Amino acid sequence: MMKKILPALLAGACAFTAAASDPKPRTAVGDPDQRAAAVEAQMTDEERFHFLQTHLPLVIEPGKPTRLIPNVPIAVGRMPAIERLGTPEILETDASLGVVNPLGLREGDVATVLPSSLALAATFDPALSYRAGAMVAAEARAKGFNVLLAPGVNLTRDPRGGRNFEYFGEDPLLSGVLAGDYIRGVQDAGVVATIKHFALNDQETLRRSGDAQIAEAALRESDLLAFEIGIERGQPGAVMCAYNKVNGDYACGNDFLLNRVLKGDWAYKGWVMSDWGAVHDVGFFNAGLDQQSGAEMDKRQWFAEPLKAEFAAGRVSRQRLSDAVRRILRSLYAVGADAAPVKRPIDYEAHAAVARAVAADGIVLLKNDQLLPLTDAKQSILIVGGYAIAGVMSGGGSSQVTPVGGPAAVIPTDVHHLAKLPLGQILVPSSPVQALKAALPSATIAYDAGYDVAVAAARAARADLAIVFASKWETEGRDSGSLSLGGAQNELIAAVAKANPKTVVVLETGNPVLMPWRDEVKAVVEAWYPGQKGGEAIADVLSGAVNPSGRLPITFPASESQNLHGALPGLGEEYGLDFAAADKIIANPEGAEVGYRGYAARGQTPLFAFGHGLSYTRFELGPVQLKVHRNRVAASFSVRNIGAREGKAAPQLYLVKAKGKPVLRLCGFAKLALKPGERRELSVTVDPRLLAGWESQGWRIRPGQYEFALGDSATDLGPAQAVTLADQRLPP
Ligand code: BGC
Repeated sequence: MMKKILPALLAGACAFTAAASDPKPRTAVGDPDQRAAAVEAQMTDEERFHFLQTHLPLVIEPGKPTRLIPNVPIAVGRMPAIERLGTPEILETDASLGVVNPLGLREGDVATVLPSSLALAATFDPALSYRAGAMVAAEARAKGFNVLLAPGVNLTRDPRGGRNFEYFGEDPLLSGVLAGDYIRGVQDAGVVATIKHFALNDQETLRRSGDAQIAEAALRESDLLAFEIGIERGQPGAVMCAYNKVNGDYACGNDFLLNRVLKGDWAYKGWVMSDWGAVHDVGFFNAGLDQQSGAEMDKRQWFAEPLKAEFAAGRVSRQRLSDAVRRILRSLYAVGADAAPVKRPIDYEAHAAVARAVAADGIVLLKNDQLLPLTDAKQSILIVGGYAIAGVMSGGGSSQVTPVGGPAAVIPTDVHHLAKLPLGQILVPSSPVQALKAALPSATIAYDAGYDVAVAAARAARADLAIVFASKWETEGRDSGSLSLGGAQNELIAAVAKANPKTVVVLETGNPVLMPWRDEVKAVVEAWYPGQKGGEAIADVLSGAVNPSGRLPITFPASESQNLHGALPGLGEEYGLDFAAADKIIANPEGAEVGYRGYAARGQTPLFAFGHGLSYTRFELGPVQLKVHRNRVAASFSVRNIGAREGKAAPQLYLVKAKGKPVLRLCGFAKLALKPGERRELSVTVDPRLLAGWESQGWRIRPGQYEFALGDSATDLGPAQAVTLADQRLPP
């Protein structure tokens, strides 16, 4: 029973307490495959088996209290070094949004909190994603870790998903590109990155036992494409398979996913590690799983004695055994993760600047009726709600970081049913109220917690302007039951807006939320979970120090009924537990038409579309010129800043029609800063897989006309241009 809580307790814990950093990127020595093969060839079989598991730093015995093993580094997964061979120790940490120290197990250890991956995706900026990955890896390395259990690239299918904030949204191209560059940032810093959770772990409900069902073509064109692009671009050393089943087989024992797609079609060279507690059979090894993670988490240490017995009986080949070991070693060698960490102090100030840049560029200005940016004038501003006096919201689960400076507050949410430890919402110590006071020194700023709606409204009526902060906590292990803001927040916003016509709403959410008050307020800002300098980044955007440039990586539904995923079985069951559900099928009714693609196909109008985001300036997108060379489409166009402020444009190119049939697929995007009046030419080469369909053995572009349009969002597009493409089969 204890097993199920361990990832949340231990993720990211490590034995190195000294603050240190290694600013110089590490470089790999020699050819990693040759080195791995040479070292592996010298191993005894016992040594080979040593590589097939990572371990928890604690002992779990039925009926006895779980205890830490003395003198063992506290990593969520550890594999000791082998001195005789000079092979390195593996120390793994969770780190999607920063190096994790859950429940403060490592006393006093903190890390820079990145904004949520949804915020990073909203930057539409691969270069920022690279910087974010490099920053987290530098901290991980400095704390002694050489394998980072990030990034997660599961697509958003249900906008109530508890871990959507850890992922990059609903589009395979955007997710794949941003994840790929995050991985490059991590690995250039000498740390192995792990892309996860392969595949279709797109919801938390039934995550350990549900069977995500989907047709192969739909899978290849959606979730797998996000992984494929991320892996091609980033070359991550490891892939973590998911808890759930995919089309009948557990993801970690799924021959189709691991052997056929990943290692076969994609010729992936790295290793596959399991999620913690996701191995259910020794046969998973032959199905493509190379390493059992946190082996004590599973019912049996399958990849120890049971696997040795299979090997002795000839049911596991020597070649397969060597292959698994070589994959692990080559990935460590390829990025220099075998080098001992060099300890230097972490420059938390510099890292906070990276977090602030991501937050500022990821904040999405959803609506603005000429109220923002705020000018620094003598005026009274009432800030209401959202704990804005203390800090900004963060998300829960194995990605939860203990912020530099410590949590501003922990709002108790639950007590863990097994650990009897309090669970809480961690507020990152970056107060929007303080930041706004600093950004608008001429204004008189007061705060109202918003507990009494009538009091808040009365105070708002007396102010020149009101800013309401609203937040919604999401966590691993549990999906949200609805798309509504919790508590009385909708009522509060509506009352304040009624009392003061100049009302701004700032959202700190891990998912889209419904906005029944949208038409009553002047401006709406989506700040996601904005991380270590979230308050400052919000103030930057509200005050105009930063011109907002974030774009939605996820569609905001207009109603609950626009979400195709119906009632969640087991809603309200205890955190992280599986439960008896009558039906454990996870249907994916949208198939490949995830998010905005499905909205377009169904003719639904969302509240805010994928790609949407306003700016304090305006951009003119030039006409698109399409060229076809060897059946490859290249689009060129100009972007001009026609407003009075410098700002960042995020032009998006979509396929809008294929062979006469309306479709909608993001085919290219860019992020670029432009001064007032400045104009730049851009070109985008379209990934042919975005124009193709998956047909039994591979991709196929069917002959005919393909139409493209350029725009500011999935629903705000310019005129379409057409090209003709020939029939073409592409390798898988
Ligand atoms: C999560 C993974 C995480 C692992 C180790 C699991 O519960 O799904 O994302 O990396 O724990 O903490």
